[in-house]
Amino acid sequence: MEQNQIQTYVNAHKERFLNELVDLLKIPSISAKLEHKPDMQKTAEAVKQRLIEAGADNVEICQTKGYPVVYGEKIIDSSKPTVVVYGHYDVQPADPINLWDSPPFEPVIKKTDIHPEGAIFARGSCDDKGQMYMHVKAFETMMKTNTLPCNVKFMIEGEEEVGSPNLGPWIIENKEKLKGDIILISDTSIIANDIPSIDAGLRGLAYMEVEVTGPNRDLHSGVYGGAVANPINILCKMIASCHDENNHITVPGFYNNVQELSSEERSEMAKAPFELEAFKKDLNIDEERGEKGYSTNERTGIRPTLDVNGIWGGYTGEGAKTVLPSEAFAKISMRLVPNQSSKEISDLFIKHFESIAPKSVKVKVTAHHGGEPVVVPITSKGFLAASKAMEETYGKKPVPTRSGGSIPIVALFKKELGMDSILFGFGLDSDGLHSPNEHYGLFNYYRGIETIPLFYKYFTA
Ligand code: BES
Ligand code: MN
Ligand code: MN
Repeated sequence: MEQNQIQTYVNAHKERFLNELVDLLKIPSISAKLEHKPDMQKTAEAVKQRLIEAGADNVEICQTKGYPVVYGEKIIDSSKPTVVVYGHYDVQPADPINLWDSPPFEPVIKKTDIHPEGAIFARGSCDDKGQMYMHVKAFETMMKTNTLPCNVKFMIEGEEEVGSPNLGPWIIENKEKLKGDIILISDTSIIANDIPSIDAGLRGLAYMEVEVTGPNRDLHSGVYGGAVANPINILCKMIASCHDENNHITVPGFYNNVQELSSEERSEMAKAPFELEAFKKDLNIDEERGEKGYSTNERTGIRPTLDVNGIWGGYTGEGAKTVLPSEAFAKISMRLVPNQSSKEISDLFIKHFESIAPKSVKVKVTAHHGGEPVVVPITSKGFLAASKAMEETYGKKPVPTRSGGSIPIVALFKKELGMDSILFGFGLDSDGLHSPNEHYGLFNYYRGIETIPLFYKYFTA
């Protein structure tokens, strides 16, 4: 009965729900680029306005040392449970812009093979404005149909894509305000539109920047070449040595605290549907590659990684310039799994990278942001409520999965607020998060809006 009411309301307001998201996607809220500071404020204000319109009380823009957090709540009965919704209104940079088929901040709706009903193409459509906004619309729907069964608090931040450096201190200062029973987040993926799934874990992150310096200035590569260290050659060699022939990471101590799964747990994980051929076809690769002894899902879900995210130095302009560079740089990320610690792994990496540098160069390593890995207990009330909710709208029990991505604040929600998070994502990995032509299926958007109220219902029951 209730679900009928909800579906009827969503159906009647579909167009407006979409138009409102389109408007939100037009603001380029790129947290990584200072020039977008005014857009960040504008987006925070838009989110605030939408929460008010949806029926939230005490809506405020909370200043932090960085970009603000938008807070709002609806307390219907203090004896009822409280769901704390987390999401982020910031997005990744859209570069390289020339690879987009339409401008990243001018949303268009197009059909694709995977999204025959259409998908909305724009930076942030899936990660995370589209997924975050489902919660605002689900809340509106529950308010308007008188079906909100418990209390809700919204916490929408603007710095997730830069590692949430100011959200940790903010939640510590606002423990009382954020008191609740569960954190609900839609910022992850399902396996496919006909294979619902719920992430039971996220990887952590340690992000490093390395600088290798050789001679004190760029040199003629003929006059000096062969007699001094070329920092780019050296850097490449150092990076290459970080993996052995089995693609194990060679940083001493790197695997010390990695939690090995039992063979039962691994065979449980192997039940998650995965089509290697489709995976390869989607990425246009002839062969997958990763750590020996593990499946693709294990490589992204339960194993740590070390990857170069960017590397530069020397001459990269037009034509050829014969130069022996003075410096070389790389950004290196390590994805972490339980029970690795971001700080410990950063320290191990720094020590190792400095130790493998030949005397002919100088090496400087600095650590950027990081985050701890998390696991969500799949037998908890929250996970079961999410599972029942999805089962009802998809007609299939969702598969528990482990995601390769990171949401650094999730570990802090547990540590500082004592709350587990439910990773109630509705996007697809193939939606192009952080890539050109990011999109979010209309099916996924509306399905999310219809499924979220069921989470509230089963969590409160
Ligand atoms: N929403 C993603 C994380 C994600 C995506 C998890 C898909 C699972 C499936 C989030 O916005 C993100 O991109 N996180 C960053 C964290 C970093 C910037 C600190 C990541 O994983 O690289
Ligand atoms: Mn995200
Ligand atoms: Mn992201």
